[in-house]
Amino acid sequence: MLEIGKIKLDKALLLAPMEEITNPGFRKLCKEFGADLMYTEFVNADGLSRKDKKTHAKMKIFDYERPVGIQIYGGNIEPMVVSAKIAEKENPDLIDINAGCWVKKVANRGAGAGLLKDPPLMEKMVRAIVEAVDLPVTVKTRLGWDDENIVILDVARRLEDAGAKALTVHCRTRKQGHSGDAAWFWIDRIKEVVDFPVILNGGVMTASDIKRAFDETNADGVMIARGAIGQPWIFREGKEILEFGDIKNPVTTEERIKTALRHLRYEIEIKEERRAVIPFRKFYSGYLKGMYGASKIRQELMNYVEYAPIEETLLKYLDYLNNYEMTKPESKE
Ligand SMILES: Cc1cc2nc3c(=O)[nH]c(=O)nc-3n(C[C@H](O)[C@H](O)[C@H](O)COP(=O)(O)O)c2cc1C
Repeated sequence: MLEIGKIKLDKALLLAPMEEITNPGFRKLCKEFGADLMYTEFVNADGLSRKDKKTHAKMKIFDYERPVGIQIYGGNIEPMVVSAKIAEKENPDLIDINAGCWVKKVANRGAGAGLLKDPPLMEKMVRAIVEAVDLPVTVKTRLGWDDENIVILDVARRLEDAGAKALTVHCRTRKQGHSGDAAWFWIDRIKEVVDFPVILNGGVMTASDIKRAFDETNADGVMIARGAIGQPWIFREGKEILEFGDIKNPVTTEERIKTALRHLRYEIEIKEERRAVIPFRKFYSGYLKGMYGASKIRQELMNYVEYAPIEETLLKYLDYLNNYEMTKPESKE
């Protein structure tokens, strides 16, 4: 059971914070597919302290997303405390501290995974934030900097002591980045040393992985990042597999294409059309993955800066795929 303040969720499926991905448009979509708890992308504490408008805008949340957390990151205590207070005013359900980002310009400056090099500083930072805000404070981190420096058990104890209300563990080291196996077995080891909820993250790419994560560990929740990009239905399929043992409503080609369009419309609801359409290009390969002739369609989609021709192209493509399904040799038998 995942209990964080007033949030109580059984077999919780969480949408991970992801920069340039988990904005309100994508969160709306994932919520509709069943995500139980979601986060903003990470928000820079120095930017917030400087009152930078673009940084502040990343904290925009809507009531229908609840429960939702705002994630902040930084390497210095004072700006992190100031930022947590600013974030609190946006009225999220929790504030999450990023102690896992592996990107050099973040980690090498002591923020994100850089905090894993100094667990006492991480503890001090979290304690100061817990004291400064009324909302529950949670932390997302990794196992350690590298294989020789796995510090997660010490970190977990310290964070619980500092008053954090839950811990998400990306079961890789900073050195691994996003590759290599995620070592899920650490989840149970962590749960042996702390009482607060522990959320598993890393390498959950399919609905079957969700079931396996709950079967193989005592995780209080499973957080999905890349597994939701281009396949936000992973939440629905994950819930079905947990409840019924298999996927009752596997996603169809039609649903995949229409979901891509719905996602784009949600992006346009929050941004000016062109500013939504161009960054959306990164999603086409996920939504169209494995479809016959997808690369040509993707190339065509890259030319458009408005919604209408994208919809026209994709719906025409869907028609083509439906006809192709009907005429291809196997389906004639
Ligand atoms: C494009 C991208 C952006 C990310 N941005 C963030 C972020 O803002 N905050 C954070 O805590 N983690 C971030 N992450 C890490 C993910 O939340 C997650 O920990 C990691 O991808 C491992 O999970 P996965 O194997 O399910 O992808 C990001 C990952 C990706 C792929």
